[in-house]
Amino acid sequence: MNAPEPLAVEVRNVVKRFAGNTALDDVELAVPTGQVHAVIGPNGAGKSTLFGVIAGEHRPDRGSVHVAGRDVTSMSAHRRVKAGVARAFQVARVFSEMTVEENVTAAVVAAHDTSRVFWSGRGLRRARQPVADALEQMGLADLRERQARALSQGDRKRLEIAMALVLEPKLLLLDEPTAGMSPEETAATVELVRELWTRTGLTVLLTEHDMQVVFGLAQQLTVLNRGHVLCTGDPGVVRERDDVKEIYLGASA
Ligand SMILES: Nc1ncnc2c1ncn2[C@@H]1O[C@H](COP(=O)(O)OP(=O)(O)O)[C@@H](O)[C@H]1O
Ligand SMILES: [Mg+2]
Repeated sequence: MNAPEPLAVEVRNVVKRFAGNTALDDVELAVPTGQVHAVIGPNGAGKSTLFGVIAGEHRPDRGSVHVAGRDVTSMSAHRRVKAGVARAFQVARVFSEMTVEENVTAAVVAAHDTSRVFWSGRGLRRARQPVADALEQMGLADLRERQARALSQGDRKRLEIAMALVLEPKLLLLDEPTAGMSPEETAATVELVRELWTRTGLTVLLTEHDMQVVFGLAQQLTVLNRGHVLCTGDPGVVRERDDVKEIYLGASA
């Protein structure tokens, strides 16, 4: 019998506190390899914190994080990138003074410890193709000479996804990838992420407050509320749950 493929990411009994405030309370999450999985929940539910714990930005107070079957709980964020985890933030983190292409190149440099060697030429030449591919994939090829500060909010967020993609992750974390986008930009971004997933089959974990985005992309949903997992399941099933409706109605009231 074949051994079952390890989960792309597994979070076990994670507790994360910030100065007495419990942001994650005994959180469990299991995402099979190749799945698009959305974590939803009202503001302050703990979604970004959960991503930070998976990416290695936050160390949990309790519990463990496993990526592709490997315990990464005590691994640095930098080493997790090498283990195949890449993250785009809720608020895009790009260098405003640099061009689109330079930003994506810088993401490659930052991921390798060889920056001096890298900028010396050989590394840069080697990065050229992956950078071009990532820009193409996110629909940014025509904007590659543009300074990041001159980008629309939507293009800026797409740039940040390109900066994650160029690292060739196995697990891509997208924290509210369409936040601040116009409806047109949102639709275009959803299409780009869908194409990317169809082409590469990589595992995508996203948080999102736009339910149309969630239902357009995710195969499974996990609902977080006040640091607790309320439920996990198929989007159609989760959407009909009374407790889920309640926290969303409560949040918008
Ligand atoms: N770096 C931090 N320091 C202190 N408190 C934080 C920090 N990050 C998040 N929190 C708190 O943790 C809780 C969850 O926040 P967050 O994960 O950002 O929620 P979400 O992304 O679902 O809106 C909130 O109460 C927030 O104020
Ligand atoms: Mg958040």
